[in-house]
Amino acid sequence: MVLPRPFLKWAGGKQQLLPALLEAVPASYGRYLEPFVGGGALFFALAQRPLVHAAVLGDANAELVATYEVVRSDLARLVRRLRRLEREYLGRDAEGRAAFYYEMRALSPRDRLGVAARFIFLNKTCYNGLYRVNRRGLFNVPHGRYRAPRILDEEVLGAASRALAPAEIACRDFEATSAEAEVGDFVYFDPPFHPLSVTSSFTQYTSASFDWTDQERLRACIDGLTARGVHVLLSDSPHPRIVELYEDGGYELRRVPARRAINSKAGGRGAIDELLVSNAPLLEGRRGGRGAPGARALSRRGSRPRPPRSPLDGGDGAAPATGAPRRRREPPR
Ligand SMILES: C[S@@+](CC[C@H](N)C(=O)[O-])C[C@H]1O[C@@H](n2cnc3c(N)ncnc32)[C@H](O)[C@@H]1O
Repeated sequence: MVLPRPFLKWAGGKQQLLPALLEAVPASYGRYLEPFVGGGALFFALAQRPLVHAAVLGDANAELVATYEVVRSDLARLVRRLRRLEREYLGRDAEGRAAFYYEMRALSPRDRLGVAARFIFLNKTCYNGLYRVNRRGLFNVPHGRYRAPRILDEEVLGAASRALAPAEIACRDFEATSAEAEVGDFVYFDPPFHPLSVTSSFTQYTSASFDWTDQERLRACIDGLTARGVHVLLSDSPHPRIVELYEDGGYELRRVPARRAINSKAGGRGAIDELLVSNAPLLEGRRGGRGAPGARALSRRGSRPRPPRSPLDGGDGAAPATGAPRRRREPPR
């Protein structure tokens, strides 16, 4: 039987980074939460393990979430639709395929089954598996030129459907998904990659872009989770501003080499490091543990870690985890 794995190509997908991510997963935890699920590389990798955890998944992309729901709960009808689409598309010449692709792209299905079938069809036949929408939220990636794209992969979809059975999934902002975490749960955050330069390609997953205010919101959210005793792992851009955002909180920061799986420019597909941020030292510190050897390896300022306050520490749990209100930072130049 095929093991669960992502059924979509997804910009920023973490397939390449899996060994480093799996190493950073806590040895034991309650539920698994992934508020920026995208293609779900880590979720599906964890679903291959013998002990499967209940999961709470979220993403701001409504069509992506509808697709997950249909894969989980309406697989047989989805398979029939995709089989028809695959036959129709592959039976045409190059020009006919392009015309069919643009017809599909222009549709706005009302029902969830239609949304999911179109979403998977476009994902498999568009240029480079990219996902990009314009300001009005309309998908605008051009046609790709694959010789025989696998529009229907029944085994992969079946394995994904089984993996999703114990998962709750909703279209919502990352803060709403994170709010469900309880002490001992594990939250993995993989937000849109903060561009390393103004010229580097950026993928627009939803009509609202993820800006610097969102990065600050994410840091505050992670502080709050840490204060509640929730395990957190974040993968993000190693941009100096992102490093600066986390280096003074007692978090463990680690740079790992990764390759960008999807980039609109072939030249942009080289090795780009990824930053991993974990709150393991802070949770260990709270338990009066051993501390965190090697923690804050990237820290450049030598500032002291300031463990978050929490109800367990005698704080009121409502204060910002890092003590004084955080100064608002300028967006990266
Ligand atoms: C880097 S991708 C995640 C990739 C995923 N880890 C994988 O393995 O494929 C980031 C995801 O965040 C979603 N997103 C963007 N803004 C969001 C927000 N404010 N709240 C929740 N999800 C958001 C995007 O739709 C996208 O799917």
